[in-house]
Amino acid sequence: MTEKLQQIYEGKAKKVYATDDPTLYIVSYKDDATAFNGQKKGQIADKGVVNNTMTNIIFRIIGEQGVPTHFVEQLSERDTVVKAVQILPLEVIIRNVAAGSFSKRYGVEEGTALLRPTLEFSYKKDELGDPLINDDHALALGLVTEPQLAKVREYAHKVNEILKAFFLERGLKLIDFKIEFGTLADGTVILADEISPDTCRLWDVETNEKMDKDRFRRDLGNVEETYQEVFRRVQG
Ligand code: TMP
Repeated sequence: MTEKLQQIYEGKAKKVYATDDPTLYIVSYKDDATAFNGQKKGQIADKGVVNNTMTNIIFRIIGEQGVPTHFVEQLSERDTVVKAVQILPLEVIIRNVAAGSFSKRYGVEEGTALLRPTLEFSYKKDELGDPLINDDHALALGLVTEPQLAKVREYAHKVNEILKAFFLERGLKLIDFKIEFGTLADGTVILADEISPDTCRLWDVETNEKMDKDRFRRDLGNVEETYQEVFRRVQG
């Protein structure tokens, strides 16, 4: 069995470990929750279990539908073996409905349907607060190559179509989400990181109730209960 060796990275929500196979890492999901670039800190009980298992369920489906992912094998409630990648320093966000920073930036009421799925990039750089960045900027800075960027866009839109249908079957509207991609040693782009209530806005189709990390960000209450309810629906 693949086992954790030295820790090579600790992020806000996950730790990453080397294994005895240089092409594999183990990610370990924590219950820590942060918002606003780490200014708000807390814990969401069993979030690590929910986000690990939910990500793996979704990554399996996404992989079957033609978007390669880093998922290899779930080891335990919080630990998963993944392909070792170098994460591209871009947060890839797709929005179907206006919310969050989009609503604020452009003065559009939250809940306003967008005329088309809208992709945006943030530059992953905590000290700058992950600023919005466009394709030309990313290419000019050498963050990604042109063929990689084309794949990122293609895969992100495909993931949006898969996720929209997946969540709708479970009574959830996919408002927006953030994904991250990584590259293998040969430069191939694959989906990495996670897809969870931390990284998606999900609204109940009947009530429009917020069923995601906005409950933590905005102090809306019932945070743990909401993660468990999403988990229940995702497991079907
Ligand atoms: P935003 O409206 O705050 O820009 O968020 C857009 C989407 O990205 C939303 O689903 C939450 C997710 N997100 C993350 O996963 N990580 C982050 O650091 C931020 C700011 C947003």
